[in-house]
Amino acid sequence: MVQVVKTIAGLRPLRSKLREQKAKVTLVPTMGALHAGHLSLVQQAKKISDYVLVSIFVNPTQFGPDEDFQDYPRDLNRDLSLLEESGVGLVFIPEVAEIYPAGFQTYVAVEELSQKLCVISRPSHFRGVTTVVLKLFNIVQPESAAFGQKDAQQVVIIRRMLKDLNLDVELITCPIVREPDGLALSSRNRYLNEAERKAAIILYQCLQWAKQRVEQGEACSEGILQGIKGSIEREPLARLDYAEIVDAENLSGKALVEKNSLLALAVFIGKTRLIDNMVL
Ligand code: PAJ
Repeated sequence: MVQVVKTIAGLRPLRSKLREQKAKVTLVPTMGALHAGHLSLVQQAKKISDYVLVSIFVNPTQFGPDEDFQDYPRDLNRDLSLLEESGVGLVFIPEVAEIYPAGFQTYVAVEELSQKLCVISRPSHFRGVTTVVLKLFNIVQPESAAFGQKDAQQVVIIRRMLKDLNLDVELITCPIVREPDGLALSSRNRYLNEAERKAAIILYQCLQWAKQRVEQGEACSEGILQGIKGSIEREPLARLDYAEIVDAENLSGKALVEKNSLLALAVFIGKTRLIDNMVL
């Protein structure tokens, strides 16, 4: 049976016991509404550690005032049975007041990296992400933590935070899990109606097209980005938030596509904002 813990005080004795057993613990932080992308992180975590702890917490501080915090899909019973099937030992599901008690006012921000890519439509998103991830690291004290490459900027920012704050947590990154037609799995895909779901493959099509162009010898980022902007304009249900080619390590813009250049996309499909990326 998967064990569910809702409080920090409840987690502490379990954590001490694992430490006594010298078990290597990997944390998989999630916001729930789990899908095969999340479960791939669990599988990877199981391979490299003795004990996998999944957290499910829809973190209010990473949502903007006009975003979907209230409507974000919550499906705890289904999540727990998926985790049970995956052989997860422990699930940490704190309430908002457990993580942000009255009077909470301390945030951590990875300053420059948080001012790139997604900042355009989610200005304080990563401050919320880094704050909650640091808190989860402090609460769980894992030896390692698993994150998906689907959120490429998140990975770069967390790696920087680990380094800057001397945190002794090993970061494991896992490849993007996709639907058969290429759409990257996301809890927000549930928001798409049938027509939007069809239109949503435009993101993957753009990534594939760009990769092909690069393989054919195109090295100019601007040419590739113009092509992508054109395709997205031609899809009536899509609206571009950003398309950028950046260095995969430090997210700085690249005029020329080189080894380790990352194409990052954010596109509104109807009202739903989807992100995707690919190393070119
Ligand atoms: P969430 O969107 O639930 O994602 C949890 C983890 O699953 C992240 O590391 C994300 O990159 C990974 N993931 C999501 N979709 C994926 C896919 N299609 N393939 C591979 N991995 C995928 O990311 C967050 O939650 C939050 O920001 C969090 C880190 C939990 C902090 O609140």
